[in-house]
Amino acid sequence: MSYAAPKDLVGLAFGGDYNPEQWPEEVWHEDVALMREAGVNLVSLGIFSWARLEPREGVFDFGWLDRLMDLLHAGGIRVDLGTPTVVPPAWFYRAHPDALPVSREGVRYAFGSRGAICHSSPAYQEAAARVTRALGERYGQHPALAMWHVHNEYGVPVLECYCDTSAVAFRRWLAERHGTLEALNAAWGTSFWGQTYGDWEEITPPRATPTVCNPAQRLDFARFASDSALANFLRERELLRELSPGVPVTTNFMVSPTQCDTIDYWRWGREVDLVTNDHYLVAEESRNHVNLSMAADLSRAVGGGRPWLLLEHSTSAVNWQPRGIAKAPGEMIRNSLAHVARGSEGAMFFQWRASRFGAEKFHSAMVPHAGTDSRIWREVCELGAHLAALAPLRGTRTVADAAVVFDWQSWWAQRLEWRPSEDLDTRERAEAFYAALFDRHLTVDFLPPDAENLADHPLVVVPALYLATAEAGRNLARYVEGGGTLLVSYFSGIVDENDAVHPGPHPGALRDVLGLVVEEFQPLRATQRVRLAPAPGTAAAGQERPELVGDVWAETVLTAGAETVWRYADGPAAGGPAVTRHRHGAGTAWYLSTRLDAGQLDAVLAAAAADAGLAPRTTLPRDVEVVRREGDAGRFLFALNHTATDAKVPLPGAGTELLTGERAEGALAVPGGGVRVVHLDD
Ligand code: GLA
Repeated sequence: MSYAAPKDLVGLAFGGDYNPEQWPEEVWHEDVALMREAGVNLVSLGIFSWARLEPREGVFDFGWLDRLMDLLHAGGIRVDLGTPTVVPPAWFYRAHPDALPVSREGVRYAFGSRGAICHSSPAYQEAAARVTRALGERYGQHPALAMWHVHNEYGVPVLECYCDTSAVAFRRWLAERHGTLEALNAAWGTSFWGQTYGDWEEITPPRATPTVCNPAQRLDFARFASDSALANFLRERELLRELSPGVPVTTNFMVSPTQCDTIDYWRWGREVDLVTNDHYLVAEESRNHVNLSMAADLSRAVGGGRPWLLLEHSTSAVNWQPRGIAKAPGEMIRNSLAHVARGSEGAMFFQWRASRFGAEKFHSAMVPHAGTDSRIWREVCELGAHLAALAPLRGTRTVADAAVVFDWQSWWAQRLEWRPSEDLDTRERAEAFYAALFDRHLTVDFLPPDAENLADHPLVVVPALYLATAEAGRNLARYVEGGGTLLVSYFSGIVDENDAVHPGPHPGALRDVLGLVVEEFQPLRATQRVRLAPAPGTAAAGQERPELVGDVWAETVLTAGAETVWRYADGPAAGGPAVTRHRHGAGTAWYLSTRLDAGQLDAVLAAAAADAGLAPRTTLPRDVEVVRREGDAGRFLFALNHTATDAKVPLPGAGTELLTGERAEGALAVPGGGVRVVHLDD
């Protein structure tokens, strides 16, 4: 996959969502002047403008947008132009009330918010194509146009629609996936509870049922929902490619599992010219920079490692969390540059100017209600200067130390009802392992289970992969056979793509590579803990392994080739293996059969990392983040100090610190809360 940058954009991108239709035209001129003052070079325009652009069906009003595009162009500001297809106008819903989506319980949502779309509605598809075509024809060659921003955050606030139109589309999708009704019956295991279908017309979306609905049906419906939105994206993309060749087409993702859980981003990432992502901190989390880094690494991953662009984050508080906690001084700049460190080609915000009305008037902005005599505005201008100074690193790629396997479809399957414990949580495991890797200062590439490039990473961690196809299992086994180090956590490799248990004992897809059998799951009671004692003689001399404490889950494990590294000291699997290590081919596969928190995970990770030859960077404080970007433009080292105390970061050579312009060599001083970026000498 090649990397497409916004057309004719100089340097890194800096700007935000611009919603000028909320303001009188006089303000537009002030906006452009202020954008220039801050160094803004790109704005996302028109995302919610359908009602203004097409006030009546088929009648377009482009005058205001013509003036804006020209004004921005004259000001040297490039435009990421939205197709407004996330907000069909009131007249559309009046004519097509059945384009409003229906919930699983059968409630039809109403107009008056945004994102109320049945992605299978032919009326919606036709209207979306009409407004997209009109925009493409009008602005496809406009000199201000840098990129197309299709729709807004597919997947939220609602993706799945359970209406009758969706039922028809679901049947079509199923026929394509399964071919015949017999194959569908087999895949869904409909011989269970007498669910066999004799005619396609009998199949419905998995609407509210008296008790648990067929999990394979629900999993296919989740796939269908992601695919049906994707089809709408592709329809718009194709129109824009035809009318506006050479201009990249994107749609803003929300790859963080904390923020969107309905889109299969592995599939979507292949379809955009440039991955763009929106990320919002969970303000009340004390170490929310870790989740930020995870979102940034996922953004890079879904684009196959290419640079990407942070299209939205906040200058300070958001208005949709329980408390709108303001960012501390310097935090916004640190957040922005943390995304850049992990591959973003700039930093954009929601939104340019704080709204006076509507649902988001208490959301922070680049121009806050307080105006320009404000801390936020001063920091916005400072960030603009920093991004200009970082322009030389454009096009370079983030360098990773280890890989983490994550899969949206597996997550969807695992969280369905009637699993062995309601405490099983794919997202929690992914975040915990990510945090443990972050704490060891290991930069992560996320990969899908069928990735061809596992072998590029000395250590591959699989935090929770309940659904693993037989082929994915073989892929992971091949990686180990070739010399890799694999670390797999519990309840992985259990079912196939239809949520059917793999034949033989658990974990069917991973049994051989792990060299063990899970005879019985031993879920723990809500407050129960289990102690893990290191097995004697498995650690290298001088490397004592600590005792550990697990919760949530344990297993009766029988080794079949693997050695036991930690044993359960108590609990339902007392005396049995808790953590194992298996030499397989030229590599090693580790297995962890209980839940350890991020701190406790470190001991297991350290042992696996040692097998992988990854040396610990123990001299750095936990919350001093060091990330590298490299490429034709050179080698760049980011040091982000998330603590309040000044830190020293060892440099691998001499270079120029780009934010201060000073020479740097030996130990780089990074002030508490600050960021330094060194362009290393060749
Ligand atoms: C999302 C949306 C924006 C805005 C922000 C607020 O990312 O795309 O339109 O609602 O959230 O945080």
